[in-house]
Amino acid sequence: WGIDGHLITCRLAQTRLSKSAANAVSELLPAYADDDLASLCSWADRVKFRYHWSSPLHYIDTPDNLCTYQYNRDCKDEDGVQDRCVAGAINNYTNQLLTYGTTASQYNLTEALLFLSHFIGDIHQPLHVGFTSDRGGNTIDVHWYTRKSVLHHVWDDNIIETAEERFYDSNVDELINALDKNITTVWANQAKAWAACSNTACPDIYASEGIKAACEWAYKGVDEGSVLEGKFMHVLLIDAY
Ligand code: ADE
Ligand code: ZN
Ligand code: ZN
Repeated sequence: WGIDGHLITCRLAQTRLSKSAANAVSELLPAYADDDLASLCSWADRVKFRYHWSSPLHYIDTPDNLCTYQYNRDCKDEDGVQDRCVAGAINNYTNQLLTYGTTASQYNLTEALLFLSHFIGDIHQPLHVGFTSDRGGNTIDVHWYTRKSVLHHVWDDNIIETAEERFYDSNVDELINALDKNITTVWANQAKAWAACSNTACPDIYASEGIKAACEWAYKGVDEGSVLEGKFMHVLLIDAY
């Protein structure tokens, strides 16, 4: 995701933490974050260049046109090093954070928290679990309405930005409020299923859903030069339900 995608996912997440998780997050956040996890949820994108090793941890490349994901087959970087993908990173930083409150942790748990909360967002962007040869849609030039864009960027940023402008008066807080309300009402049953996986990390479920969504929505009918418009935004137009 871009800035807003990460802001939205982290806002929604922080209000749903258990008391003990909320306390841990408060303690791990730097003072300047003022207890607001969302304010630092794009940190992992800013350090990609300083922490060069971290850039393959934002995505998963799966075999072209197969529309399936398998951890052992797909979770590796371009040099073939196992576990170096967003699912492996979620497992790793979850395990680090589980050492919180035990003995003096050998890890930087502030960085672990900022990575984990960012990667949980990224793994839910369908094209972050995309095809290898087009780098998750990064090499597919398209138009978003009349403007030049790239398929990956349409899903990282354009859909969210346009929905914000059109439906929420460019106010991201209003979009977050609408999503928040839907989670407790219209999506309540689905939300129960989401919560069933909250005590351990479940990145393989998210990654499998991601490549399915990429094939059924993001890649569907799209070619180099396609003109894309707002038909994907309905999920962000809450009143449509
Ligand atoms: N680079 C290579 N594949 C990618 C993907 N699926 N998402 C983002 N960046 C990538
Ligand atoms: Zn992206
Ligand atoms: Zn990222």
